[in-house]
Amino acid sequence: MTEHVLVSDDNRVRHITLNRPDKRNALTAAMYAQMAQALTEAASGTDVHAVLFQGSGGFFTGGNDIGDFLANPPADDKAPVFQFLYALVTSPLPLVAAVEGQAVGIGTTMLLHCDLVYAAPDTRFHVPFVDLGLVPEAASSILMPRTLGHATAARMLMLGEPLNSEEAKAAGLLSGIVPAADLAATAKAKAEALAAKPANAMRHTKALMRPGQAEVLETIRKEADIFGRCLRSPEAMAAFQAFMSKGRK
Ligand code: COA
Repeated sequence: MTEHVLVSDDNRVRHITLNRPDKRNALTAAMYAQMAQALTEAASGTDVHAVLFQGSGGFFTGGNDIGDFLANPPADDKAPVFQFLYALVTSPLPLVAAVEGQAVGIGTTMLLHCDLVYAAPDTRFHVPFVDLGLVPEAASSILMPRTLGHATAARMLMLGEPLNSEEAKAAGLLSGIVPAADLAATAKAKAEALAAKPANAMRHTKALMRPGQAEVLETIRKEADIFGRCLRSPEAMAAFQAFMSKGRK
């Protein structure tokens, strides 16, 4: 267990809070493992009817911890990051996210698997995989073009251009933009509204709205294979070292 992820249940909603604000909630293997467990437990019981993701300190997440990439690279799809993604994709429960500040890398791609996403006005959605010598994950290589359209997805995934909240909402990534001061309360109220509805019908509805799960899981495996090889490439090593030595822009 790590104090960098807080898990609590309230009104049938499981709150999963990224709690590493001094590192912009950057995600380590231990944090992924805890999030995977929190999701799996919630799905297997009957007490939790919805899940809410949020970050502490005014940030969602700066994405995968780059030092952890170097020290602890995911070897294959059994690594905690992929266990988290599988739990996310296969969760039968409605998933809600409250996003503010930065949503980098998996901080944006995981939103493709959430059912309701609320963001503060000044949020930045950024997937700089290619700039880091990496490839997309979380099936974002197929889901971003489908959700946002190829032109916007290419700007984000290939050029590495971030979207602001207005652009993300217009592109179909967000359910709503909410003032930062109201974000947590709004997302909590929406998650509780979902959790209060008939649970069986909700699970069926979610499954019907997300067909093609086998393709998504297969894509995550395919991406993981290439991602793992890219992680060890000279171009990725150079990008990580540049970040670690504060050479980033
Ligand atoms: N991995 C490791 N550490 C990270 C991190 C990450 N992904 N994101 C932020 N941090 C750390 C910084 O190293 C810094 O630590 P320090 O105070 O010990 O030096 C701290 O969090 C604050 O980061 P800083 O860059 O000063 O904050 P900022 O508000 O100016 O910028 C970001 C925030 C997220 C835009 C910026 O930190 C960033 O670009 N991070 C890397 C994002 C990334 O490439 N993620 C991988 C995606 S696959």
